[in-house]
Amino acid sequence: MFAGGPSDEAAARPLRHVAIIMDGNGRWAKERGVPRLEGHQQGVEAARRAVETARDLGLSHITLYSFSTENWNRPDWEVRHLMGLLRRFFEEDLAKLAEEGVRVRILGDRRTLPDGLGKLVEDAEARTRQNTGQTLQIAFNYGGRDEIVRAAAKLARQAAGGELDPEAIDEAALTGALDTSDAPDPDLVIRTSGEQRISNFLLWQAAYAEFVFLDCYWPDFGREEFLDAVDQYRRRERRYGGRREAEEAG
Ligand code: IPE
Ligand code: IPE
Ligand code: MG
Repeated sequence: MFAGGPSDEAAARPLRHVAIIMDGNGRWAKERGVPRLEGHQQGVEAARRAVETARDLGLSHITLYSFSTENWNRPDWEVRHLMGLLRRFFEEDLAKLAEEGVRVRILGDRRTLPDGLGKLVEDAEARTRQNTGQTLQIAFNYGGRDEIVRAAAKLARQAAGGELDPEAIDEAALTGALDTSDAPDPDLVIRTSGEQRISNFLLWQAAYAEFVFLDCYWPDFGREEFLDAVDQYRRRERRYGGRREAEEAG
């Protein structure tokens, strides 16, 4: 597989799906002496730029981590503001995205979303389901452990109902029960703000993802930073537990 020329190399490093941990809005605001909410506002602009760049790069999937299951621990006013931003995103951006052929998917537990937001999520997905362009996954009220627990419970219900043979449960079955069921695993996970941790993001799916950590705060993430991360990815060697390319011959 890794035997030869540039086309083999490109095949070993396809870039279809980039997932981003959008971190550092608060510190961005603090450094400027502006309210934290202004940081989140500028964060939405950065997310819009990222979706555009992803399209220019020809990615089939982009996933943005917007609100974690642990982010409920923040003060009420901040949680409400973050909910409001998602609502506004649906109101302001969905029509354009739908027109451009983007398919929108929301990852996370939607049953516990507040007033009307769950419905907006369902509508956004229904409205863009038939689209065949890029897939934009927004992880909201999302936690990797929570997602795996919900998937396991789903399989258990099917088994208890006699629809599924427990002996038939394999990696593909669990993958298929996740919120990301029809998406390829992320090739590249980017985190901004200098933190180097996964914070409960795509725990199952990122098993063999490449990670790029950037020092810039999320509101400062633009096209150049995105291309820089992709460039770092292109210089990586993905091995999936196999051997180095150079050793392959011998
Ligand atoms: C990322 O920015 C946005 C969310 C987690 C919702 P933060 O709000 O975490 O900003 P920092 O990490 O405190 O700077
Ligand atoms: C991760 O950022 C979650 C999102 C970007 C939505 P956090 O700021 O919540 O993560 P920690 O607390 O620094 O790990
Ligand atoms: Mg943070």
